[in-house]
Amino acid sequence: MKLSRSEKQYFTDCSLELLKSEIVQRMGTFIQHANVSCLEHSISVAYYSYWLCRKLNLNVDCRSIIRGALLHDFFLYDWHVTKNPKGLHGFKHPLTALENAEEHFSLNDCEKEIIVRHMWPLTLTPPKCREALIVSLSDKFCSIIEILRIYPALISR
Ligand SMILES: [Fe+2]
Ligand SMILES: [Fe+2]
Repeated sequence: MKLSRSEKQYFTDCSLELLKSEIVQRMGTFIQHANVSCLEHSISVAYYSYWLCRKLNLNVDCRSIIRGALLHDFFLYDWHVTKNPKGLHGFKHPLTALENAEEHFSLNDCEKEIIVRHMWPLTLTPPKCREALIVSLSDKFCSIIEILRIYPALISR
């Protein structure tokens, strides 16, 4: 699951605006699964989504995939202790993440779709673009390896 040097550089270039932002770094203070922070989880989802696109040589918008994935869980609270005012966390946090992301960053339609559809099929409306489907699949993969704590063994960057 390695990226080439130029792919790593592309990943860094696409991530930079978001990762240097203080508000995105705040995701590092919230646990997502097991001992993995929300920021680490989001970086993993972005990494694996992009890796999958390169591996399968998919003709998709990789920049939006990386940026959308980095913001897909940008809800900014500890979901283990804080309730989402809109309803159950599992169903509503994509909307909260989208609201936060739109407040702080300029997003394209693909990035918005990635964030708001990433919990499909739990949230019933399916992703309209391949980019959102890829991030949704990577999110499930990363969540499982984090919950099972096999995360460090698989990461090879
Ligand atoms: Fe999520
Ligand atoms: Fe996630």
